[in-house]
Amino acid sequence: MLEQINFTTKSILEKTNNFKPEVGIILGTGLGGLVKEISAEFVIPYEEVPNFPVSTVEGHSGKLIFGELGGKKVMAMQGRFHFYEGYTMHQITFPVRVMKALGIHTICVSNASGGVNPSFEIGEIMIINDHINLFPTNPLIGKNIKELGPRFVDMMEPYDHKLIANALEIAKANNIKVSQGIYAGLTGPCFETPAEYKYVFNIGADAVGMSTVPEVIVAKHGGMRVFGVSIVTDLGVPGKIIEVTHEEVQQIAAAAEPKMSFIVKEVIRTM
Ligand code: HPA
Repeated sequence: MLEQINFTTKSILEKTNNFKPEVGIILGTGLGGLVKEISAEFVIPYEEVPNFPVSTVEGHSGKLIFGELGGKKVMAMQGRFHFYEGYTMHQITFPVRVMKALGIHTICVSNASGGVNPSFEIGEIMIINDHINLFPTNPLIGKNIKELGPRFVDMMEPYDHKLIANALEIAKANNIKVSQGIYAGLTGPCFETPAEYKYVFNIGADAVGMSTVPEVIVAKHGGMRVFGVSIVTDLGVPGKIIEVTHEEVQQIAAAAEPKMSFIVKEVIRTM
């Protein structure tokens, strides 16, 4: 794995004239709009990144964008890899390894989710303050490579408290309604049954989705700080459960996206 990481990192550095990003951004479903805010210096489609899988889901277009956002040098992934696409945990999280190797110290992750907290509304922006790994596996399973991080990773503060506080302040100062909550990550690709939404709520989650947890685990393994935000695109709350389609998820996410982008950009400024 180290060889692959180094090879990909070297290839990216060559293609970007040695651009050294400080902050990594992973954009989820319908949330690619933040890319427009980046003054992009280099764009590399995933097909041209050695060892990167090629994204297979509609609405995830698949490119790396290098440029400036919120006064910082950033690398953004437009389109992420999901476990339900059939990739391994190592493939899904490989870009995070490369981010670390490029010198990135903090990553921002975004996703769309189903809200199970009864106080949530559709379009709710939830700052992620913790997560529950409901994937049947963990990206750190296997021989630990000590150059990448420790065997046993502390997960006391998966989402950086200071960055959460900054986000809440920014939201308040700009009259943007946000909430905080726990994100449960599971495989998909089915949306949840009513009983599964109830289960997820009962174990302490506020929202549920099909991504993010693997990338965050690997970021913590690499000693990176994490900021996460989720857009609640549908409700898994008894009495409010309606049929969900990927198109609706994309539409609702796109509608909330400008506010989320603003928060992410301003949080990056505080880093
Ligand atoms: N469940 C899982 N993932 C999701 C959902 C959901 O209800 N909405 C958007 N992503």
